[in-house]
Amino acid sequence: MKAGTIFDLTGDVALVTGASSGLGARFAEVLAANGARVALVARRRERLDSLRERIVAAGGTAIAVEADVLDRAAMLRTFDRTEAAFGTVTVLVNNAGAAQGVRALDMSEEEWRRILSLDLDSVFFWSQEGARRMLAAGAKGSIVNTASVLAFGVSKGVAAYAVAKAGVVQLTRALSLELAFKGVRVNAIAPGWFVTEINRTFLESEKGQEMKRAIPMGRFGSEGDLDGVLLLLASKAGGYITGATLIVDGGQVIEVG
Ligand SMILES: NC(=O)c1ccc[n+]([C@@H]2O[C@H](COP(=O)([O-])OP(=O)(O)OC[C@H]3O[C@@H](n4cnc5c(N)ncnc54)[C@H](OP(=O)(O)O)[C@@H]3O)[C@@H](O)[C@H]2O)c1
Repeated sequence: MKAGTIFDLTGDVALVTGASSGLGARFAEVLAANGARVALVARRRERLDSLRERIVAAGGTAIAVEADVLDRAAMLRTFDRTEAAFGTVTVLVNNAGAAQGVRALDMSEEEWRRILSLDLDSVFFWSQEGARRMLAAGAKGSIVNTASVLAFGVSKGVAAYAVAKAGVVQLTRALSLELAFKGVRVNAIAPGWFVTEINRTFLESEKGQEMKRAIPMGRFGSEGDLDGVLLLLASKAGGYITGATLIVDGGQVIEVG
């Protein structure tokens, strides 16, 4: 089979949360470039609008939907708007997230709950809604969650984030099991360090440069390094893959000590 055929997403409707910057913006562009019609979801409207313009200028199709992933009413409106524009979402990318920069002993309950709500709970509720709608429409689909290497190892100051991302890995497995027979695949991508707004200040600091030198491949992830894994999980090329978390980190999590 030709690569261009098995990775093709023509006829698919994708919804990407956290599409206003970083990894999510790239995910949306890659899905659109490979034929999917894409709903771009985040809170910063202007960012979504300019991404939409870029996608359309490149020959793709997209709509921008402003929504906070923590707001369940906004979630329902987002799926409704996407369905009205393009039809049932068949590729759902749960990517919105935020990092934490507080040591455990200094963390407030409010901050703990904010990170868990955003980085774990929202993945559950958007997956639940997306899968319900796929099943109701009799559509097969793919859910792709953004986890992190911090699901597998920890560093100081990331307790809530690491717990949330480990939860995403296990949630991916649990949902995949319940949905496999119904034709909905659920997988996750666990990126290593990619320089984006979430971590730019830290990764460009002396400590960040030290971390870069410790990565077996000697560099941070760069634009394009997640394109292949995203397309694999979203398309029929990955049609028998479910419950998996694919680590893309230049070898980072292999090393002990
Ligand atoms: N960069 C890395 O090294 C790395 C590594 C592993 C995992 N990740 C994960 O990758 C994902 C994307 O992160 P990134 O690195 O691309 O960072 P980013 O550039 O800061 O992007 C985060 C995205 O999430 C959106 N977002 C945050 N809170 C939201 C909310 N309440 N409702 C809707 N959207 C919200 C932001 O949009 P608005 O602010 O416009 O709402 C933005 O589009 C996250 O899940 C992150 O944990 C990143």
